[in-house]
Amino acid sequence: MRVRIAVIHYSATGVIHRLATSLAEGAASAGAEVRLRRVHELAPAESIASNPRWQAHHQAESAAGGTPLASLDDLAWADGIALGSPTRFGGPAAQLKNFLDQSGTLWIKGVLAQKVVTAFTAASTAHGGLESTVLAMLNIAYHWGAIIMPLGYGPSAVKATGNPYGASWVSRKGSLPDEPALAAAHAQGVRLVHVAGALRGDQGSSA
Ligand SMILES: Cc1cc2nc3c(=O)[nH]c(=O)nc-3n(C[C@H](O)[C@H](O)[C@H](O)COP(=O)(O)O)c2cc1C
Repeated sequence: MRVRIAVIHYSATGVIHRLATSLAEGAASAGAEVRLRRVHELAPAESIASNPRWQAHHQAESAAGGTPLASLDDLAWADGIALGSPTRFGGPAAQLKNFLDQSGTLWIKGVLAQKVVTAFTAASTAHGGLESTVLAMLNIAYHWGAIIMPLGYGPSAVKATGNPYGASWVSRKGSLPDEPALAAAHAQGVRLVHVAGALRGDQGSSA
């Protein structure tokens, strides 16, 4: 059976969505079955409308062909889970946290202790909370009892991004991830497949 990877993210203006897509492509290139999923938007319509990029991304994702919404089944189904959120005051967005706060029914059965979990993020400034946001997402995985997977310094793209905690991008005034940032996300997807496969005991997998 192919390794199963769920890439679950929140993105207001599309930056995290780009990283999530690249990470999903990396996982697929390593042979995994991949579910790319977004969590429910919780912000009121007037907040979304206050930012044209937020409005555009929200409309595109809500339309036919947009990223499917995440469900608890995606968590239960996956061997490896990648969590993505923009930095919000140094931590993950409430939209992602709200989804993860619904995982208690799986947690209590120990289902999530079998997973490999990794995380990725974006912030508008280099010191605005990239590491703290990745670490805060992974706090939840510690409680699940999951195996935490950092990106590490192995992938060559990390030499450019400089962030071993997870793929990340400094979006400044809304710029989309550049090639090294997308490559880091891609490499994180590949690594997640290798680690999740090795944990499952697949022959030929390597971390
Ligand atoms: C309410 C709010 C809080 C934010 N907090 C931070 C922050 O603490 N540090 C930072 O560098 N950027 C912060 N940002 C900027 C976003 O993290 C950044 O624009 C990110 O790239 C957005 O990703 P997205 O396009 O996937 O939504 C904040 C943005 C919003 C709307």
